[in-house]
Amino acid sequence: MNKFRLLVAILFALPLLLVAEISLAGGDAANGEKLAATCAACHGADGNSTLDMNPILAGQYEDYLVHALKGYRSGERENAIMAGFAAALSDQDIKDLAAWFSSQESELKSLDL
Ligand code: HEC
Repeated sequence: MNKFRLLVAILFALPLLLVAEISLAGGDAANGEKLAATCAACHGADGNSTLDMNPILAGQYEDYLVHALKGYRSGERENAIMAGFAAALSDQDIKDLAAWFSSQESELKSLDL
């Protein structure tokens, strides 16, 4: 392989590597669904909480959910209930949970607000 061909091969391979990197950075919704069993009692299995005191997570922006959970974990967001649940989560758990809840359809959309 001459240098030119090698360069062309690298140029073609680069975007593939970048795409792989981006998909790794996101959460795994299937694993998030499993982890969400812990959250279901309050937020609903798919994030559509039926009690006003527990926020609806379904359809929420993924990065908002990540930010909120990291906030509870660090104590930046103060809430005794969520601090306890967030403390047990790794960064990857948080990404996976966010991917799961954000991919669910929010029942809020069907409300006439
Ligand atoms: C015992 C009930 C309970 C359980 C179980 C629970 N939560 Fe919560 N969650 C709450 C309450 C109450 C709030 C609102 C707290 C506040 O006012 O900041 C909340 C808030 C949140 C928020 C912020 C939502 C927003 O709109 O800002 C996220 C994200 C969240 N919970 C994710 C989870 C995840 C993920 C789990 C499971 C690992 C979980 N929760 C388990 C009760 C619960």
